[in-house]
Amino acid sequence: MIYISVLALALAPFVAAQSTDHALDIKAIEAHFTQSHVVPDLLSSFNPSALLSLNFAGVGDVTPGQPLTKEQVGTTPVVTVTPANSSVQLSGTYTLAMVDVDAVGADISKGVNRHWLVNGVTVSSSTVSNSSATAITPYAGPWPAAGSGPHRYVVLLYEQPSTFSAPEGFTQTGLPVAPMDFAAYVQSSGLTSLVAATYITVEEGTATASISATSAVVTSTLGQSSSHGSSTASGTSSSASATGSTPANNGSSRTLSSVAAMSLLGAAIITFIAA
Ligand SMILES: *[C@@H]1O[C@H](CO)[C@@H](O)[C@H](O)[C@H]1NC(C)=O
Ligand SMILES: *[C@@H]1O[C@H](CO)[C@@H](O)[C@H](O)[C@H]1NC(C)=O
Ligand SMILES: *[C@@H]1O[C@H](CO)[C@@H](O)[C@H](O)[C@H]1NC(C)=O
Repeated sequence: MIYISVLALALAPFVAAQSTDHALDIKAIEAHFTQSHVVPDLLSSFNPSALLSLNFAGVGDVTPGQPLTKEQVGTTPVVTVTPANSSVQLSGTYTLAMVDVDAVGADISKGVNRHWLVNGVTVSSSTVSNSSATAITPYAGPWPAAGSGPHRYVVLLYEQPSTFSAPEGFTQTGLPVAPMDFAAYVQSSGLTSLVAATYITVEEGTATASISATSAVVTSTLGQSSSHGSSTASGTSSSASATGSTPANNGSSRTLSSVAAMSLLGAAIITFIAA
């Protein structure tokens, strides 16, 4: 698990040295989205202009992909957004969403569960404010089915056009958690720019199905890479292979390490930050 400390150690001096330019952090979150298959499962591509951070009461700021329990994420998090650099302005209105992209390899062809959908949020002093917003679906914490594996809950902040009007089926407030065609919503709402996003993982019980593996992020390789998709690398774990028995987990040709390694990665970063 040498790569775990490589990530933490590689990030620290960079962040310290370049407090206003988050280019490497942007590359890191892009790599996280690729290695967790959020790209392409939910998004066809991901080129954010800001970093999104979630802060849950009793937990604090979470890292991308961090494994959390449903109890830890039961109440609405504070969402903060940090521009990639000083040329990125966060004015205007935005749409904030959280969807459940299920476990890697799960069939999401019938849609993803909407757990949070708020139109018209604004960013005030880096914090997302809902003071003049419309909560189509107020925050409903993750609640994955027992045994269904670690679900990826993706939180996204889209620029909302001034001409925005809620698409059919989403004009009411207080809609419950329900599956939706998220890409169709984004398109019909005219949400062309995904400003920032992150994700967490929440698992209930022990997975009964074989879960597809994902690769770890090695930030030491990020600096040279200009292509987002290739900036991932495998960890050293040999505990999981890509030869699982579920039909959908043969989709990736990259070298894989386990979801557990991904979890450890999150834990290692926290440990590092706490140290
Ligand atoms: C600022 O960040 C954006 C988004 O990552 C990037 O496209 C742009 O090139 C950056 N500008 C500078 C001056 O670094
Ligand atoms: C704004 O957020 C708070 C909790 O953070 C919530 O109680 C309130 O219902 C939200 N309002 C809207 C319009 O989303
Ligand atoms: C992957 O699995 C799908 C579904 O079972 C199958 O259709 C496809 O041929 C498989 N691809 C490879 C490369 O094995």
